[in-house]
Amino acid sequence: MRSLFIAGNWKMNPGTAEAAVALAEAVKSGVGAAADVRVAVCPPSVYLHRVDQVLEGSPIGLGGQNMYWKTEGAYTGELSGAMLVDAGCTHVILGHSERRHGMGETDAQVNAKLHSAFGVQLIPIVCIGETQDERAAGQTEDVLQGQLVGSLAGLSPEQMAGVVLAYEPVWAIGTGLTATPEQAQDAHAFIRAWLSNEFGAATAARVVVQYGGSVKPDNAGDLLARPDIDGALVGGASLKAADFLGIITAARSVAAKGKD
Ligand code: PGA
Repeated sequence: MRSLFIAGNWKMNPGTAEAAVALAEAVKSGVGAAADVRVAVCPPSVYLHRVDQVLEGSPIGLGGQNMYWKTEGAYTGELSGAMLVDAGCTHVILGHSERRHGMGETDAQVNAKLHSAFGVQLIPIVCIGETQDERAAGQTEDVLQGQLVGSLAGLSPEQMAGVVLAYEPVWAIGTGLTATPEQAQDAHAFIRAWLSNEFGAATAARVVVQYGGSVKPDNAGDLLARPDIDGALVGGASLKAADFLGIITAARSVAAKGKD
């Protein structure tokens, strides 16, 4: 059985290192030592060192929000995977829709970053998802398939099993609109079937697929109870410790009860 995995994507928040430390401290004390649900936080890179110090002794993972595929050199403004590891990271988010749509990141670039992340043993969280227009035009599965094919090219089944995917419908991110548990489960089932086809059923069964898009304490339980939804990538609600911990509590109760 796949463990549920709740990750907080802090994006370009909070505004100071002190506030980042305070948020990390509150999350650490709320999560405690139990490892029944996997948890990670992904702060802005300038706070990684400080947050890593706070998280010492806790099972909470630390993630970067992006990385470059080159290992070193004249790439102004970029960070390598090895730098993230040096700052304490265990995870890295790749291909978030705000980077795909806001910064023009392509599937090929996401794929290059993914291979580079494997080179330094970072656990990648690869984001995919359709826009509102694509969903309305009935293209959701085509878009997801295109992103899966392009972003995951050249992986062995063993590497694939170590990738975390995040299905994040773009129209649900930061909008307060959440995919219904049925819509999300349908997309996750499609992703799992594609994985099974490409990498085999045993590998597909091991891949953790998070849902992201306006996950809150009051909708997390219903989403996480679905068979193919293995966690959440949380933006806005990860900035308030009480909300993020509420989502983790919902995940713990699904983990204890089992799936619907
Ligand atoms: P949201 O963001 O929870 O604020 O919708 C999710 C994400 O972008 O990962």
